[in-house]
Amino acid sequence: MPDPESERVQVTSELITGIAELTTNEPGRQRMDDAALVIENGIIAWVGSSKNAPAADSAKDLDGCAVLPGWVDSHSHMVFAGDRTEEFEARLAGKKYSAGGINSTVEATRAATDDQLTTTLLRLRREALNDGTTWMETKTGYGLDVEHELRSARIASEVVDEVTFLGAHVVPRGVDADEYVALVTGPMLSAVRPYVQWMDVFAERGAFDADQSRAVLAAGKAAGLGLRVHGNQLGTGPGVQLAVEFGAASVDHCNHLAAADIDALASSDVVATLLPACDLCTREPFAPARDLLDAGATIALASNCNPGTSYTTSMAFAVTTAVLQMGLTIDEAIWAATKGGATALGRAEGSDAIGSLVVGARADLQVIAAPSVTHFAYRPGVRLTEAVWKSGVPV
Ligand code: NIG
Repeated sequence: MPDPESERVQVTSELITGIAELTTNEPGRQRMDDAALVIENGIIAWVGSSKNAPAADSAKDLDGCAVLPGWVDSHSHMVFAGDRTEEFEARLAGKKYSAGGINSTVEATRAATDDQLTTTLLRLRREALNDGTTWMETKTGYGLDVEHELRSARIASEVVDEVTFLGAHVVPRGVDADEYVALVTGPMLSAVRPYVQWMDVFAERGAFDADQSRAVLAAGKAAGLGLRVHGNQLGTGPGVQLAVEFGAASVDHCNHLAAADIDALASSDVVATLLPACDLCTREPFAPARDLLDAGATIALASNCNPGTSYTTSMAFAVTTAVLQMGLTIDEAIWAATKGGATALGRAEGSDAIGSLVVGARADLQVIAAPSVTHFAYRPGVRLTEAVWKSGVPV
């Protein structure tokens, strides 16, 4: 009788051919035509013209599809319960978005069971993955007491790739603001710390002022967390300047920027993470993507999936909108939704990098039913992602 162990073929390398257009995100050669790549143990081992492709243990022909890195979604809030359709409808009728709506999701989230929160989170993560998102961050921020923030952080850590502590999302109803900041920066931070990599604050009118935000960011830094800031979403506020002052990885939203904010971002490493679906759903002016890029700032695009301001996991929608409405080129938008997101999460370089398809990077990629990424704008609203590979494995 044959020994099953000796019969098993160990496939360690796979050659992918028939790629009409490959987005590598390599500086100076973002896209190449008629390409091939080799994946070895989940990592990109070779990239080049199909005519030079080396042999591998197995091969797959994509028959003229385009391939690009999986989306890197660096901003979402997916641990929640409840529904805010009514609030959305009121906005359609002209009511302005305010930070206060967060509290209604807090009530629903606290009342939900662990299973309910996990089921919603898994559903959204699966939805995103099917649409090409291979790496996803999500935030806490709908618990807002020690017990429920801890629960949100734990559940998030079981499902997504990295987790941000956003206890400083809004001051819960009936709680003193300074006492709440002390809770967030003390017992709440200690409780969630094992489950999170990042600390965030909503530095905005109706949420946390500059001094309170500074206290939150200082506590996160002291705890060894990376920093992110929600800033300049609803008006010109302190968010961008705080992000630069603390060397945050990103400042997210950026709808209302003064010239000094753009200059500060351009001369720092802080990534401006732009959220086009949120801008549309809250009817805020689009973030000034073109001005930021022209000034030399780095931008990322993200979904901001949450029940209040942007109930979508679609990164393709963000890319389409950035091109058709915000003045980005296709290459700029694709880069921002892949390597830009990776940069915002500090994962764009080094071994195991994400957001690019170059030798040494993780083989996190998507195959689209089109010959070029231009189709994300050319065919708005059409689902193009046909196959998704995470760490070299089809999912
Ligand atoms: O990023 N701006 C703050 N937080 C979310 C919205 C949260 C909500 O309204 O539920 C955002 O848009």
